[in-house]
Amino acid sequence: MTDRAWPFIKGGNIEVTRAEGVYLYTRQGAKVLDAAGGAIVANIGHGRKRVAEAVYEATLEYSYVVPPWLTPSRAALVKSLDAWLPASLTRVHITSGGSEANEAAMKIALQYQAARGEKNRTKIITRNVSYHGTTVANTAAGGHPKRRRGLEKAIHPYPNTETPYPLRCPLGPYHADTGAYYVEALRTTLEREDPDTVAALLAEPITGSSGGALVPPDDYWPAVRALCDELGIVLIHDEVMTGFGRTGAPFAHQHWDIEPDILVSGKGLAGGYAPIGGVYATEAIGQALEEASYPVMFNTFGAHPAACAAASEVLDIMIEEKLVERAGSLGEKLSRSLHEAFADHPHVAESRGRGLLQAIEIVRDLESLEPFPEEDNVTSRVVAKALEKGVFFYGGGTGAVRDIVCMGPPFIIDEAQINQMVSVLVDAVNEVVA
Ligand SMILES: Cc1ncc(COP(=O)(O)O)c(C=O)c1O
Repeated sequence: MTDRAWPFIKGGNIEVTRAEGVYLYTRQGAKVLDAAGGAIVANIGHGRKRVAEAVYEATLEYSYVVPPWLTPSRAALVKSLDAWLPASLTRVHITSGGSEANEAAMKIALQYQAARGEKNRTKIITRNVSYHGTTVANTAAGGHPKRRRGLEKAIHPYPNTETPYPLRCPLGPYHADTGAYYVEALRTTLEREDPDTVAALLAEPITGSSGGALVPPDDYWPAVRALCDELGIVLIHDEVMTGFGRTGAPFAHQHWDIEPDILVSGKGLAGGYAPIGGVYATEAIGQALEEASYPVMFNTFGAHPAACAAASEVLDIMIEEKLVERAGSLGEKLSRSLHEAFADHPHVAESRGRGLLQAIEIVRDLESLEPFPEEDNVTSRVVAKALEKGVFFYGGGTGAVRDIVCMGPPFIIDEAQINQMVSVLVDAVNEVVA
């Protein structure tokens, strides 16, 4: 035995030897309800033989082929995507994860602006509570100070605007003008930056774990879409966490009557059975890059044949088993149960979310919404306490935004298991903060 350390920063040494349905089984003998679907990934649950067989077959038949070439699994995935993607998004670029997909999306938006002669449009506007991935550009783009630690002098944050946060709207919690306030904040940012220098807005339609399932008011996205159109700005929706059914619609932006110019996915695309992400863009964007002879370079492991096989099988299973509808109805049940359980809690400001992406926000003081000090590590302690009780939740927040506990269980979860999630969460929160 060497003393080599995995992960890089030591810790987190739980060893899972088997997973089935919504449960993880550890070497230490624990059975854990996976209320987070891993990192909000495992949409169809664990241990589906059909998916394993599809991966086996693709691996055996053609293992690795350069990404631009077709294999039967790649062709099957593109066909499966037909049932999911908005009709306007005809161009597909498959990556090996969400970070790569966001990188590619930002580059494509910049190239598109250059291709149509808008060479001064070099900025990507992002939002102050967000996460887009691990790379240098994603770290600069993301509104996630905790994940920028040690890099503050090296990485210069992209210009950003406020993420809609109804509970903490400066006009007052859930003020009637919350949507208008955040749209105006975006307009102000764009004017400050000079809209003619802005290529794209990169944003999550429903903010994932960084903000804890923050759902904007209904008037926000239609107005932002109109503003992007007015000012020639490409709208990129990062649906790495929300895509493929998580919020009870195929994509979260479909809760409003809008469409992005570029859509980014990851996580749920293959339900955790393989590493894969995707970028989907309009025909106009694809054509402009083609005419300008601008490249969209592949990653060596982009569109990996085995990952495509897994994704296409997972997408088909979701349709056959009506799992998006199930995420919607069980999401309502989870949301109701959380509201009831935490309605009078002295330290839970609210529970919120859409479909099976839900979160609670824990505060020191309900009136002022003042959080606990960061060094109290409330989120980590709640997550650890719940794990002791057999349920895995996903810690969220950005350091500045805290203490957030996220939920994103597989869509096959049942009502009894949802009840177990909620009662363990109540006990864990009470033991840590009450
Ligand atoms: C909204 C969002 N975008 C991008 C990413 C990065 O994806 P990946 O970790 O697959 O690189 C994540 C991961 O958590 C995410 O939640």
